[in-house]
Amino acid sequence: MIADLTGKIAIVTGGAQGIGAGICSVLDQQGATVVVADQNEDAAMSTFKQLSNKQSSHLGVDVTDDQSVNAMTKYVISKYGSIDILVNNAGIIGADEWWTREHGNDDDWQNTFDVNVRGVVRCSEAVTPYMLERKYGKQVNIASIAARRGGTLPFYCVTKAAVVNWTQSKAAALASSGINVNAICPGLVWTPMTQRITDHRGNFNPGTLKSGYKDKDEFDALVKAWVPMGREQTPIDIGKVAAFLASDDAKNITGQAFNVDGGIYMN
Ligand SMILES: NC(=O)c1ccc[n+]([C@@H]2O[C@H](COP(=O)([O-])OP(=O)(O)OC[C@H]3O[C@@H](n4cnc5c(N)ncnc54)[C@H](O)[C@@H]3O)[C@@H](O)[C@H]2O)c1
Repeated sequence: MIADLTGKIAIVTGGAQGIGAGICSVLDQQGATVVVADQNEDAAMSTFKQLSNKQSSHLGVDVTDDQSVNAMTKYVISKYGSIDILVNNAGIIGADEWWTREHGNDDDWQNTFDVNVRGVVRCSEAVTPYMLERKYGKQVNIASIAARRGGTLPFYCVTKAAVVNWTQSKAAALASSGINVNAICPGLVWTPMTQRITDHRGNFNPGTLKSGYKDKDEFDALVKAWVPMGREQTPIDIGKVAAFLASDDAKNITGQAFNVDGGIYMN
C-alpha cells in the first residue's frame, strides 16, 4: 500500500473541520493513530468519533498558547510514547470580524501571524525534540496558494508565504536527523472557512481576479474559470497528499511545497 501509516502516531492541528477533518480521515484510513487537536473541542470530538481507529483521540489545543501546545505534546507522549507525524493545519483568515474592514488592522496582522505562523513554529518546536530522540519524524505544514501570489487579504497571504519559508528553513535544519518537513498549498477548497468568507464578505476575490464569489454557485463558477483542471479541491484531496508526505514513500522529499490546486500555479 502506498502511504502506509500503520502504527504511526499523528497530531493534526485544526483537525476538527474542513481540510483538517479530511486529513484526519485519510491518515486514519492509512492506518495511523490520529490525535484530532483543535481549539473547538466539541467539533474535535465529533471528527474523532468518525475515525475507525479507536486508539485515536481528540483534545483541545490553542496553537497560539505555549502551555496549551506543551500540554498537547506531553499528552501524546504519555499516551502513545512517540510522535511520528505533525500536520500543522490550524489557520485563520484574519482577526474577528475581519470582513468588516476593507484593509486589515493591527489585529488582523497580529492574530493571523500568531495562528498561521507562530502556531506552526510553536507546534513544530514542541514535537521536534521527541522526533530528534528517535531520528524519525514527518512534519507537514498547510500553507496555501496565497503563498504563491499576493491577493486581496495581504495579512493572510503573507503568513502563508512565511509558512513555505519556515518549511524550507526547518527542513534544512532537520535534514540530517531523519526528519522530513514539507508544505502543501491548497487551492480552492469549500470548507467552513470558505463558507464564512462568502457569508460575510460577499463578492470575495481570493487573488488578483477580475471578479470574486459571494455564494457556492459563484464559487463553482470561479473554479471553472480559474482552475485549469476545472474542478475544486476537497479536504480529502489535501489529506491524500498529506498522507503521502507523512509516509516513508516520501522519505527523499523535504523542504518542498506542493500546490494542490488543479494547475492554478505551476512552479
Ligand atoms: N479552504 C481553502 O480553500 C484553503 C485554501 C488554502 C489553504 N487553506 C488553509 O487550510 C487550513 C484549513 O483551512 P479550512 O478551510 O479547513 O479552515 P476552517 O476554518 O474550516 O478550519 C480551521 C480549523 O482550525 C481551527 N483553529 C483555528 N485557530 C486555531 C487555534 N488557535 N488553535 C487550534 N485550532 C485552531 C478551527 O477551530 C478550525 O477547526 C488553514 O491553514 C487554511 O489557511 C484553506
